[in-house]
Amino acid sequence: MGLGFFTFSPGLSGMENYQTISVAVDGPVATVRLNRPDALNALNSVLVRELVGALDALEADDSVRCVVLAGSDRAFCAGADVKEMSTLSMDDISKADHLSPVWERAGRFEKPLVAALSGYALGGGLELAMCCDVIVASEGTKLGQPEINIGIIPGGGGTQRLPRAVGRYRATEMILTGAMVTAEEAKSMGLVNRVVPPGKYLEEATKIAVEIASKSPVAVRAAKKAIAASQEVGLSQGLESNLMLFYGLFATEDKKEGMSAFLEKRKPSFKGK
Ligand code: HXC
Repeated sequence: MGLGFFTFSPGLSGMENYQTISVAVDGPVATVRLNRPDALNALNSVLVRELVGALDALEADDSVRCVVLAGSDRAFCAGADVKEMSTLSMDDISKADHLSPVWERAGRFEKPLVAALSGYALGGGLELAMCCDVIVASEGTKLGQPEINIGIIPGGGGTQRLPRAVGRYRATEMILTGAMVTAEEAKSMGLVNRVVPPGKYLEEATKIAVEIASKSPVAVRAAKKAIAASQEVGLSQGLESNLMLFYGLFATEDKKEGMSAFLEKRKPSFKGK
């Protein structure tokens, strides 16, 4: 990776010239980076619009099989932009709805998302990470839901996704105290997959993305859908829908290719069909 790295410029593949994010594609892996360094990548309405647009474009692009979502060394994302939110009334926030599309969009993104965290992943930033399928963090990254400290509660899914990830009691402590946990603590809670030395988070996340991108895209999409169902429905309904997705894969060329390649002791060449 690295050489041949391609950054979108205006007009290419429908991507805009973004102000608050950057998008780069290297083969089947796209890397989206939040880029509001002066506000520790806080989510404002412009960033939300741009990120939603980028995810729409990446989902539609069949050559992209996995997306890495990162910020900078100093911060993945310090949450929703408090300056922008501070003047909003209840009427404003509920009508304008300028923030919730980001978690909604990331949460239903069909391709795998690998979060690469460093610095801070707080509030809406942690909620964005929890919309991802794999979470890699640099040593010392601080994760938390500090909304309670500013008189609100997590509004981007944290009260639902955090208890599912770490259990009710640990989630409650984090949400009601607003206290941050370190990447190491988050890993022991099951909130982070891997903790890596500073400076290695993007490399490690990309390595995982490349590995995922080498698999059958139809099988990966089915697995992601089945796992998502495990978080939404009861066990018997989840097992039933898993079985339907599993049966469906037996109609794909990729299943034929994958099994043939195994039996012929060669690398499979998946086509996404
Ligand atoms: C706007 C922010 C910001 C935020 C940081 N900044 N977080 N601006 N919104 N969420 C800005 C600071 O104002 C400052 O700008 C600059 O980034 C650097 O931040 P500092 O505070 O000077 O840095 P540091 O001392 O290192 O502290 C880092 C920090 C702290 C611990 C992350 O910034 C912090 O507590 N931020 C707020 C975290 C938070 O409460 N997040 C939840 C938001 S609510 P200037 O111009 O002063 O240099 C939320 C709700 C989601 O996410 C759901 C909505 C529907």
